[in-house]
Amino acid sequence: MDVRDKVVVVTGAAGGIGRTLCARFADEGANVVVSDRELVCAREVSDAIGGIAVACDVSDEADVRNLVDVAIDEFEQVNVFVSNAGVTAKGGVEVPDDDWQACWDVHVMAHVYASRAVLPHMLARGSGYLVNVASAAGLLTEIGSAPYSATKHAAVALAEWLSVQHHADGVRSSCVCPMGVATEFLDEEDPVHQFLAVTAVTPDDVAEAVVRGLEDERFLILPHPDVEEFFARKGEDYERYLKGFRRLKQKLERQPTARSRWTVARTGSLSSGRGSG
Ligand SMILES: NC(=O)c1ccc[n+]([C@@H]2O[C@H](COP(=O)([O-])OP(=O)(O)OC[C@H]3O[C@@H](n4cnc5c(N)ncnc54)[C@H](O)[C@@H]3O)[C@@H](O)[C@H]2O)c1
Repeated sequence: MDVRDKVVVVTGAAGGIGRTLCARFADEGANVVVSDRELVCAREVSDAIGGIAVACDVSDEADVRNLVDVAIDEFEQVNVFVSNAGVTAKGGVEVPDDDWQACWDVHVMAHVYASRAVLPHMLARGSGYLVNVASAAGLLTEIGSAPYSATKHAAVALAEWLSVQHHADGVRSSCVCPMGVATEFLDEEDPVHQFLAVTAVTPDDVAEAVVRGLEDERFLILPHPDVEEFFARKGEDYERYLKGFRRLKQKLERQPTARSRWTVARTGSLSSGRGSG
């Protein structure tokens, strides 16, 4: 799908990847609805790119329904809905239920709510696009965060189901699965995030991959080409793949990665990021 003159809604768009996606969609000629639970920051983005801002906590179905209603009132339709908002919770099964629930609500139920709200319109028109910004953690794993890994896997599964179920109806589904992206999301103090920061791409790189992925109507959009290879290895030999990840976990516990490289990657991205000023 070419997004020119299309109506694109992006959640979690007050900062990071979402903000850059909005700016890129606007540059491509789309009408952009910038939404976030942080309305003031979302407004700054919409003021800069000429879209509209809508407050929306994606874990609240009424908020998501309102977001779609406002977008349709303003632009008559929603062509692309990007579920981008994300949270994280560090730790394993000991993580409190509330934090597991927050990951589940934001990564999975938010896309269920979005699909419930926009699918009837898209099915009636015979076209539309549902995009979920999941993570490489949804195809592989994220060392150090069970709630993030499990719920991003569920996010991929939901996007895959939507693709199988609705492709013939004209509704496309894509799943964006980056590894590290240089945003506030990466925690400078976390050894796993320090490791991810070494190969982090910029939000602009993600936006470029998303625009190209939508043009090609690709299901899996991978801003890091390595992820395709790692995912293929997982399919070829699951046991070997697990051994590799266990070894990596031990290595990360033994040697902290270079902080300076992390800083370079992040600073470079933020200063050059489209729409980041
Ligand atoms: N940065 C990375 O390394 C990375 C890697 C892979 C995937 N991702 C995914 O990309 C997406 C965007 O991440 P980012 O790096 O831009 O993060 P970010 O923290 O910079 O931005 C996340 C945005 O989501 C918003 N948000 C959080 N909870 C919300 C809620 N309940 N309702 C509405 N908005 C909410 C925040 O206000 C914020 O503006 C997330 O889904 C994240 O899991 C990020």
